[in-house]
Formats: sequence, structure tokens, C-alpha cells
Amino acid sequence: MKVGILTGGGDCPGLNAVLRAFVLRGVEKHGFEVLGLADGWKGLVAGRARPLTPADVRDLVPVGGTVLGTSRTNLYKKPEDADGARAQWKTLGLDALVAVGGEDTLGVANRLSQEGYRVVGVPKTIDNDLNATDYTFGFDSAVNVAMECVDRVRTTAASHHRTIVIEVMGRHAGWIAAHVGIASGAHATLLPEYPADVERVCETVRRRKASGAGYSLVVVAEGVELPAGAAAGEGKPLDAFGHVRLGGVGEDLAARIEKATGAETRSVVLGHVQRGGSPSAFDRVLGSRFGFAAADLVAAGGFGQMVSLRGTEVVAVPLASGVAALKTVDKALYDVVQGLEG
Ligand code: F6P
Repeated sequence: MKVGILTGGGDCPGLNAVLRAFVLRGVEKHGFEVLGLADGWKGLVAGRARPLTPADVRDLVPVGGTVLGTSRTNLYKKPEDADGARAQWKTLGLDALVAVGGEDTLGVANRLSQEGYRVVGVPKTIDNDLNATDYTFGFDSAVNVAMECVDRVRTTAASHHRTIVIEVMGRHAGWIAAHVGIASGAHATLLPEYPADVERVCETVRRRKASGAGYSLVVVAEGVELPAGAAAGEGKPLDAFGHVRLGGVGEDLAARIEKATGAETRSVVLGHVQRGGSPSAFDRVLGSRFGFAAADLVAAGGFGQMVSLRGTEVVAVPLASGVAALKTVDKALYDVVQGLEG
């Protein structure tokens, strides 16, 4: 059986662990011939692929990013790209394809599957906002990197008696901000799912200034919209899936805090630092379990499905359920975030 595999959307730590486990299990247990497609769906459209053998992937588990390359390509955006992908599927002689990606990549996988192509999905995103799985790999690494950055920011903020706003990734879902806020002991945390109460943040900053603590750390997700300001991302460029490139809310918030409280305030955008580097142990294990399970799912003919973590078990769920809606931060976790602020 000839099986293609691709990684699409934003890269994240743990992708290479998936590739490694998929190839080792697929070749050694199921006798697959594995083709790695370059740069996500773009590689299928152009027919850019290379064989992946156990020797190619054996040492990849600690390596960040994806050795296949990635892109944000929506092959349904232009009819000629969808036609190209259908033609290359034939030319490459694929019997099945594994798509490793977030909501956009898996959305394309779901459409291809509805056309009758034999597709299996593997959910991935640092944002942890994919439905139908409890966690995605990449999230734990991103949270650990951001937490370490906030720990570092804390000592300089304390030394200078400053307020520092730390902007983390998270477009519509504040999972990274929520976990980083709790794990780093931030004094205020803003998530895109809940109205941004800037006055509450300022009150915390004033109280800490007056109490002698003198400094404050504020974590804000990039997708937060501040009241009566420009909507996040307004006027910014769009990618192939129509998403705006975000960034800038931290700076805006810092200016508002300084103006309202008189506290000297700085901002830092963690940006792609959160996506880079080696995966955490959790992400290496989850990525490996997902790659292993994806090989078994292909061998069992479980097409139109994706692997998923439910509790401690890796299971298969319909691809459609993974892309039906975004998983946002629930009120119970938000209560913990807010309850520990100040
Ligand atoms: O992959 C998810 C993500 O990291 C989001 O958190 C962020 O908004 C976006 O990707 C950034 O995308 P890009 O790498 O294309 O700038």
C-alpha cells in the first residue's frame, strides 16, 4: 500500500515525532510504502514527494518543526489547485493519505474524504483549539516556552518596578494564555473568549503598585479585542484561509495601562518563539502515539477519521467532528485564571 503523508498549517513541536512513528509503524508492521509530500497541500498540488524510510526518520523525535516543510495552502481556493491535487494523487499512485494539521488542513482533508479519497487526519496545533481531541501536541511545548519567558520577564519587571504585558499566540482561543497565566503566576490574564476588562487589569496594577509589590505581569492572547479600539487584526493581510495576521494588542494594552495608572509599562510579543525548538516530553509522546495510531487506522481502512486523545486513550473520531467548531476555553478554567489573579 502506498501512503502519502503531509504536514500543513503552522508548524509545531512534535510533528517530526508523528512522522517518525507513522513511518516506523507503517513500514515495519503494515508493509506500507510511505511518500512524504513537501510543504503541506502545496506538495500534493505540485506532486512534490519523496520516499520516507525508517532510516530517514529514526532520529527525528527531538527535532522541532517538520522535515517535510509546511505551508498554509487551501487547495479548494482555486479550482486548478484542486484539479492538480486530484491529478497528482493518480500520478503518485497514492492508495491513501495522512494529513497532519489544524482546522484548515483537516478541513481540506475532510473535503477530499467527502470526494471519496482515502484520507486519515492527525490533529495538531499549538493553540489546542481543535474540537474532538482533549489535547493537540505542540501546545504543551508552546506553554512551557512561554512560561519560561514570563519567568524571565518577571525578574526584570520586579527589578525596575515596571508592568510588563506579554502577548502570546491564540487567535480565537486563549488556551495558551490561560495555561501560561496560571503556570507563570501572572497578575492578570486576558483571553479572546471573554470581554477584556481593561479597568480590572488597571485596578490590579494600581493595587500592586500601592502595596509595595511594585511590578505586575499581564498575559494577553493575540486575538483579544480591547474595548472601543480597533478590532484585532483590522486592516492586516489575510492568509489563504482568510485569517488575519495578528499581533499588536500587547502594545496597545501596555499604552492604556501606563496612561490609566501611571505605572511604567513595557510590552513583549513572544510570537513564533512559542512554535520553535524541541518538543516537550509530553508532545514527543503524544505525537508518537498519534503517528502510531494513524498507521494502524490506515491499515484498518478507517478513512474519513482522525486520531484523537480522549482522556488517556488515543481513539479514532470522524474528521468532520474535528473541524465542526473551535474548542474554546471553558468557564471553569477561566474561573481558575481569574481567581488566582492579583
Ligand atoms: O498555528 C497557529 C498559530 O501559531 C496561531 O497561534 C497564530 O495566530 C498563527 O499560527 C500565526 O501564523 P503564521 O505563522 O502564519 O504567522
